[in-house]
Amino acid sequence: MAKSVLVSRGLEDEARRLLEQHATVDFHGVEDPLPRTDLIRRLQGKDGLICQITDTIDDEVLGAAPGLKVVSNIAVGYNNIDVAAARRRGVIVTNTPDVLTETTADFAWALLMAAARRLVEADRYVRTGQWKQWEWRLLWGADVHGKTLGILGFGRIGRAVARRARGFDMRILYHDAVRADSAVEHELGAAFVPRETVLREADFVTLHTPFMPQTRHLIDEAALRSMKRTAIVVNAARGPIVDEAALARALRERWIAGAGLDVFEEEPRIHPGLLDLDNVVLAPHIASASQETRLAMAMLAVRNCVAVLEGNPPLTPVP
Ligand code: GLV
Repeated sequence: MAKSVLVSRGLEDEARRLLEQHATVDFHGVEDPLPRTDLIRRLQGKDGLICQITDTIDDEVLGAAPGLKVVSNIAVGYNNIDVAAARRRGVIVTNTPDVLTETTADFAWALLMAAARRLVEADRYVRTGQWKQWEWRLLWGADVHGKTLGILGFGRIGRAVARRARGFDMRILYHDAVRADSAVEHELGAAFVPRETVLREADFVTLHTPFMPQTRHLIDEAALRSMKRTAIVVNAARGPIVDEAALARALRERWIAGAGLDVFEEEPRIHPGLLDLDNVVLAPHIASASQETRLAMAMLAVRNCVAVLEGNPPLTPVP
C-alpha cells in the first residue's frame, strides 16, 4: 500500500514531484503554520511528516499517529521536536545539515559586516534624503580586518565562519563543549580558549551552538558586561541563546557597540527595546534562505523521508 506523508507547509516543485513518486501526499501547501489541532488531525494515519521549525512536534503530536515512522525537519536545528519522545515511539527524526552550512556562514558574515560598517543605517540615511554632501565624520564604523573573531559553537557552521575570517586576517578564538582536532584548529588558525576568554577578548562574538537547556541565555547580562565596549554580537543560531532583554539594555546603554540578529527568543515577536535602536541589524530568520540552499534543504528532507518509508537508513538522522 502506498505510504502517506503530511507536509506541514509548501514544498518546492522539484521536491514535491520527488515525494509524489514515492508516497501519497497531504500538503498543507501554504506558508502559514498548520494550527496544532489541524496538525494532530491530519497526521492521523500518516507514515511520514515533513515539517519546519515552527511546528512543535511533541509527544502528544507524535501520539496522534501511531504508525508514524519518520519526522523529517527541513532545518538543521531540531529543537522544535521532542527527539527523546520520538525515539521512545520508534520514530526516526532527520534534519538537513551540511547543505546549509556555507549559506548560513555567509549570512552570519553579512550580519557582522552590516553591523560593523553600519550598512543598514547608511541605507536609511540615503533613502530618507538626509545625505546632502560628502562628510568626513559620517557613519564611522569599526574595522573588521585584523580584529579578533570569537566563535561560540565550533561545529560545521562555526568552522565555515572561521574559514571566511582567514581572508580578513583575523585572530580566531573559539569555545565549544568539545574541542576540535588539532588538524582543524591548525587549518583554520583557530585557538580553543575558555568561553570567558572569547567574551573578554573578541571584537566580534558570533554564536553557532545548537539551542538546548545548556545554551539557553549563554549570552546573558554577565556575558554582555564582560565583553569589550566595542564588541559586536552576531546571532544566526537560535534566539533563546541570547537573553534578548539584557541585549537590548546592553545596546542601549552601550555596554557593547552593536549586534546583528537573525533569530529571536519568541519569533516573530522582537523585544520592543531592540526595535528603535540604530546599533542593531535585524533580520527575519533568513540565514539559510538562498534559492539554491532552500531547494537543497527541501530535497534532502524529502530524500530522508522516502529513505525511511522504503526501509532504508535516512541520509541525515539527528544525532
Ligand atoms: C534554521 O534555522 C535551521 O535550523 O535550519
